[in-house]
Amino acid sequence: MAGKPATDGRSSGKPWRPPSKLPEVAFAGRSNVGKSSLLNALVRRRAIARVSSTPGRTREINFFEVNGEFVLVDLPGYGYARISKAERAAWRPLIEGYLHGTSALRGLVLLLDVRRDPTPEDEQMLAFLAERGVPVLVAITKIDKLNARAATARVEQLTSKLALEPDQVVPFSATTGAGRDELAAAVVDLVRR
Ligand code: GTP
Ligand code: MG
Repeated sequence: MAGKPATDGRSSGKPWRPPSKLPEVAFAGRSNVGKSSLLNALVRRRAIARVSSTPGRTREINFFEVNGEFVLVDLPGYGYARISKAERAAWRPLIEGYLHGTSALRGLVLLLDVRRDPTPEDEQMLAFLAERGVPVLVAITKIDKLNARAATARVEQLTSKLALEPDQVVPFSATTGAGRDELAAAVVDLVRR
């Protein structure tokens, strides 16, 4: 995958949409989960999505066109505790507006930090997608932060807690590259089927 930024929708509450009919795969997760890092790893570009030194920075919807074939949609991270209440509330209409408004969505990748339990927002997102029949992949991020045995145990725990199928779940590390190729292949499967 080689991606280029389609542009971003930072100007208003309504997400700017690329003028294309390409299939879309969206990426969502709590703030600081490693979403920008994962997107950069997927498209093998260091700076396509901005990696935050201050968590909670990605507050708009960004669209990245890949190979002229599909679009990766970077949804704003939710629920970072240290940003203001108003900023925290802003993600919900943005994400819901996108999810309700799109007809091109072929699947969503939900990111979960291997060391953290899913938030109510994570569970709401999964329920919403299940209701609408949107295929879901779950990327379990930052697995390099645990040793291999602990990471595997956490992946199994999260898979069972959220009633996921094992083939929906991809352990991932932007630092080591673990899971990168598997996730890229799974995303391409979503847009091509
Ligand atoms: P916001 O957009 O601010 O909500 O965050 P984000 O989900 O886009 O996360 P981002 O990619 O900006 O990463 C947040 C922090 O986690 C940064 O300090 C990254 O360097 C770090 N990080 C991201 N992925 C990994 C990973 O796989 N392993 C490790 N060890 N650190 C990671
Ligand atoms: Mg980000």
